[in-house]
Amino acid sequence: MRILVVGGAGYIGSHMCKLLAGAGHEVVVADNLGTGHREAVQWGPLVEVSIGDVAALGPVFDRYRFDAVMHFAAYSLVAESVTDPFKYYQNNVAATLALLRVMRDKGVARFVFSSTAAVFGEPQQELIDEAHPVVPINPYGASKLMVERVLADAAAAYGLRAVALRYFNAAGADPEGLIGESHEPESHLIPRLLRRAAGDTLDVKIFGSDYPTPDGTCIRDYIHVNDLCAAHLLALEYLDGHAGFHSFNLGNGTGYSVRQVVTAVEAVIGRSLGIESAARRPGDPARLVASSALAREVLGWRPALADLQTIIASAWRWHQAPKF
Ligand SMILES: NC(=O)c1ccc[n+]([C@@H]2O[C@H](COP(=O)([O-])OP(=O)(O)OC[C@H]3O[C@@H](n4cnc5c(N)ncnc54)[C@H](O)[C@@H]3O)[C@@H](O)[C@H]2O)c1
Repeated sequence: MRILVVGGAGYIGSHMCKLLAGAGHEVVVADNLGTGHREAVQWGPLVEVSIGDVAALGPVFDRYRFDAVMHFAAYSLVAESVTDPFKYYQNNVAATLALLRVMRDKGVARFVFSSTAAVFGEPQQELIDEAHPVVPINPYGASKLMVERVLADAAAAYGLRAVALRYFNAAGADPEGLIGESHEPESHLIPRLLRRAAGDTLDVKIFGSDYPTPDGTCIRDYIHVNDLCAAHLLALEYLDGHAGFHSFNLGNGTGYSVRQVVTAVEAVIGRSLGIESAARRPGDPARLVASSALAREVLGWRPALADLQTIIASAWRWHQAPKF
């Protein structure tokens, strides 16, 4: 298939391009390089375009005649979404709507969308499955949920076939070290710890050590970026036989506390990082862990790199010699 990877210059999108090319698909990247990296685009041409720009996007669809679109482009800093919600609704919702309109007009019917655990808001149960209520508590999560709603309506009205994959915490990097996670600013725990390990002066703290968890720190579900991308491939195959809109949670189903992650990072790098605790941050739930039973059952998805040390070791390889 020929696939448009929107946001393919970013962290997860670039890993997707590598996997797609390895599976024999033809890849074209559409990215405005707002947070992405030109050097991460290695498996197909880069079209520098903003997806909100319908006039620029139409000719790209005419030229390449895509079989499917995978959509990774978004802003994703939760705290920024609270202070500047218009920025998030504009880029994550309005620009996505423009992309979907071009797809409809050009007759491209398969769509795989990067959604997030943030659509659920405060967790109400130990393992979050697809039946968990969706009550996002910040504009970032709300923007992703709005797109899910748009996809469901577009499936009903225009015959779009769409899957939303709700990732928990993406982590790790290409085991060959060609691409990796490079956000600026970096808000994710593992790359922050590894940047510090690699000599960055970044201040890394454990926010809150009095949560109702075994060691008092927050618990999250980390999933290797390649496992996420493998689920996208399965979702694409699924859309061949299934019309409509479908959403799946993607996580390992195992939670690790912030302190456990710090210990695992220190084990991988072979020394202590001297990370200290600080007060809680507002809006951090104590525990966020996925049930991915539906993705396992329906898509046949199995995370292959689920072990936390394996995830961290792949990311460490990148952070010792980042290429962008
Ligand atoms: N990283 C995670 O842990 C995580 C968790 C849940 C969901 N997600 C979602 O996964 C997706 C990818 O995340 P990431 O960490 O790879 O982010 P990223 O910032 O590394 O990649 C996003 C890419 O999209 C591009 N982009 C943004 N707006 C654009 C626009 N209007 N037009 C064209 N290109 C645009 C950026 O330049 C960048 O290359 C996002 O939608 C994010 O919300 C990520």
